[in-house]
Amino acid sequence: MTKHAETMNGHANDRKWLAYRAGSLHVENVCLATIADAVPTPFYCYSADAIRSAYGRLTTAVSPFGVSICFAVKANSNISVLRLLGELGCGMDIVSGGELERALAAGVPASKIIFSGVGKTRDEIARALEVGIHQLNVESPAEIAAIAEVARRVGKRAPIAIRVNPDVDAKTHAKITTATKESKFGIAIGDVADLYAEAAAMPELEALGVAVHIGSQIQNMAPFRRAFTAMAELVTAMRKRGLVVPRLDLGGGIGIAVDGGAGPDIAEYAGIIAETVGQLGCDVTVEPGRWLVGRAGLLVTELLYMKDMPNSIMGILDAGMNDLMRPALYDALHPVLPLREPRADEQTRTYSLVGPICESSDKFGTYEGLGRLSAGDVLAFDCAGAYGASMASTYNSRDLVAEVLVDGNRFRTIRHRQGIAEMLKLEKAGDWRLSSPMGKEAAETAPGKALGRGW
Ligand code: LLP
Repeated sequence: MTKHAETMNGHANDRKWLAYRAGSLHVENVCLATIADAVPTPFYCYSADAIRSAYGRLTTAVSPFGVSICFAVKANSNISVLRLLGELGCGMDIVSGGELERALAAGVPASKIIFSGVGKTRDEIARALEVGIHQLNVESPAEIAAIAEVARRVGKRAPIAIRVNPDVDAKTHAKITTATKESKFGIAIGDVADLYAEAAAMPELEALGVAVHIGSQIQNMAPFRRAFTAMAELVTAMRKRGLVVPRLDLGGGIGIAVDGGAGPDIAEYAGIIAETVGQLGCDVTVEPGRWLVGRAGLLVTELLYMKDMPNSIMGILDAGMNDLMRPALYDALHPVLPLREPRADEQTRTYSLVGPICESSDKFGTYEGLGRLSAGDVLAFDCAGAYGASMASTYNSRDLVAEVLVDGNRFRTIRHRQGIAEMLKLEKAGDWRLSSPMGKEAAETAPGKALGRGW
């Protein structure tokens, strides 16, 4: 048995919703094999109870300090998941016009939505202002100018916060580190106060605060402490200059345990917030994504073929890197649970699990303790509730993966597979359109014209 499965069955298990019963893996009171009989694999399966309980634990930890929670929609943007969290009172952190529409469609009021991201388009900004967004987190002087221009056009003041780059290494995977000097995110901390003062003086803008997000899947609390301390010092210095800074957004990033370990302690995280920024009297928000949903979801997949390799046995799955990108992109190793519980005395083998995509990076990892696997067995990749379905694609013209939600003894599909028929519909070629050799706009700005030479 894997260390992961042992923990799951032992006292350390904080996930009562996931367990083997009579030898079969259950999500809450539903046997996963029953779902796999009804819904073709691969599919994601989430536990509503797990999401509710994660939200409850986070609220218990941070709400005594007056901290609000905005779920980072990018982690899992399924509208049923958003609705579930929204109904619990959770706000949303979005990074695109699409995510804005999802959050609104899920019934989350615009007044609880924060818009982050380095590259918002003018259309996205306009829509956000029209619906009455709580806050736009801005990341460059050029974006401030664009927001002011759009605000003038739509006749609304834009509530903004400046995202700060505190130059803190989150000590996580390089591809999900976001606050070191070279990162593309935020404004260097030394430049923030001046920029904020400029923004505060603009009639189209309402400068409301500062924001930070240092990275994702952070296991060690020290970088949070460093970043939040830097933010507290920044706010204090800004106030000394006479700037009004009522809001503070501390971003997301709290990691989850993926194999047996306890994982970051949420009470410790809350304590760090209280110690570092508690005295400022700001309205504080956090934007967790992974922590709320990561451990609440599985990717269920069938073994198509077994193949003998020199050092292992390869299992070829019907799920690939297009369904779960994290192993290929971040070298993530998602624990595997066979739907049929391996017997304690079952002879174990080493299996390397791969997907069907025509790329060498389409592999999930090497696993022990899964018992004897054979073609037709169904497996579940654990801790796949965050950045799984939301990052899935149709690469190799494969169906966009389905999603299922379990609640108590019921389950339902919350995203149907998007198949080739839908894809081909969108590829119906449009009419050819003629391009003039030199459009009107190009002619007006052409270098020849500027030089007065004429054409
Ligand atoms: N706030 C902002 C501004 C963010 O950019 C992110 C994530 C979050 C909050 C939520 O972070 P979380 O609490 O989920 O760590 N695809 C990667 C993770 C990318 C995270 C991007 N930003 C992965 O699968 O590990």
